Amino acid sequence: MDKLRIHGPCRLSGTLRASGAKNASLPALAACLLTGDEVVLRHVPRVRDIVTMSKLLGHLGVERDEDPSGADGEPGALRLRANGHGSAPDEAPYDLVKTMRAGVLTLGPLLARRGHAKVSLPGGCAIGVRPVDQHLAGLEAMGAEVDIDHGYIHASSTHLPDRRLQGARFRFATRTVTGTENLLMAAVLARGTSVLENCAQEPEVGDLATLLRSMGAHIDDDGHGTLTVEGRRSLHGAEHRVIPDRIEAGTYLVGAVMTRGDVTVVGTRPADLAPLLEKLAEIGAEITTEDGKHNGSIRVRHDGDIGARDLVTAPHPGFPTDLQAQYMALMTQASGAATISETVFENRFQHVPELGRMGADIRIVRANYAQVHGPSRLSGATVMATDLRASACLVLAGLAADGETVIDRIYHLDRGYEKMESKLQRLGVRVERLSS
Ligand code: EPZ
Repeated sequence: MDKLRIHGPCRLSGTLRASGAKNASLPALAACLLTGDEVVLRHVPRVRDIVTMSKLLGHLGVERDEDPSGADGEPGALRLRANGHGSAPDEAPYDLVKTMRAGVLTLGPLLARRGHAKVSLPGGCAIGVRPVDQHLAGLEAMGAEVDIDHGYIHASSTHLPDRRLQGARFRFATRTVTGTENLLMAAVLARGTSVLENCAQEPEVGDLATLLRSMGAHIDDDGHGTLTVEGRRSLHGAEHRVIPDRIEAGTYLVGAVMTRGDVTVVGTRPADLAPLLEKLAEIGAEITTEDGKHNGSIRVRHDGDIGARDLVTAPHPGFPTDLQAQYMALMTQASGAATISETVFENRFQHVPELGRMGADIRIVRANYAQVHGPSRLSGATVMATDLRASACLVLAGLAADGETVIDRIYHLDRGYEKMESKLQRLGVRVERLSS
């Protein structure tokens, strides 16, 4: 298992380019199942979850090709064609879905285009139980027969006229990102109109809608969580560039404040990071942005005290849960006490004991409510990553800590951060990967 060794303390300084968003790429890859034409996706990051999803699509009969990477180091386009749906298996197996819950995103498109699907229940993970009841309730509202058997979701629309899902009005009981994405991909091929209410509004959901429209889907977004979809009989191929990864960019920008540094992220969309940038400005950081659809930039500089500010995570446009652990690492360096309330997942404080081992003073006052008392002098230690964003938090702590920090199980990091060592090295960090 690989480890990362960081020599702290250090100061992040320099410019880096954001990779494409993992959480926009995963639904985009699944969307290729909705057509027999070629779908070309650009700016897809080469991270472990993408490799897993690509393997899963191959298992489902999707032909995949990859262009060579660009001169600027951008990964080459992925070319996908799901034309074998007649003979291809329609099962998303447990051994692939268990390592990457987003495999459940094949459920909606498989059902919509083939009329049946067998997808492993994703199961829980380190941060929570993570049920998919809303995904299934929405598909049933569209007329699907859904059964759970031996850990698999069996869904079918073959009993319906034309074997097609029926457009329906459905209101999500809780805002769910992949739930919204699954139902959106089901609705675009359904017979008639679907009105999906209380949808997730994360930028990655919007990016999927953009791709689907370019494939011929009719989707209206009222901007307040309601999506209205006029189902089509078929969709055609498209080319699409996925949006930049706001969580990756946010991670490095938090590091800039934490290390009293000066970091510019280019090839990003400042509007997607508004909740974080507002919080960093409250803390006292100096922020400069240049807007752009795909090529905006954000510069964050800070020296002197870090203000302690409370945080409550929430679905977009609230502060993203995927930056909560990174923010907690920052608050260990703040002057004073800050409370952090995690409202999206029920077990997303796994990073607390590891931060404690480095010298942080954090008390979990009650479930999902932590109090951070700073500033603490962090000392380098051997720590263990438990999930993707907790591992990013430990990297940030290692940047601020005195001495060497070795982070074990960094396969978690590899799931969602592209070329992290080289990006950190370019920002002035002494870091190396220890392969064992
Ligand atoms: C997506 O997960 C992201 N993953 C997560 O990013 C992110 O943390 C999460 O959204 C919240 O923003 C991808 O997009 C691939 P949810 P998802 O369904 O869709 C409950 C990362 O670090 N819920 O929005 O699985 C659920 O238990 C990952 O990149 C139900 O109760 O999250 C949770 O408490 C981690 N029933 C809350 O909703 C359902 O049917 C939000 O979950 C679905 C969800």
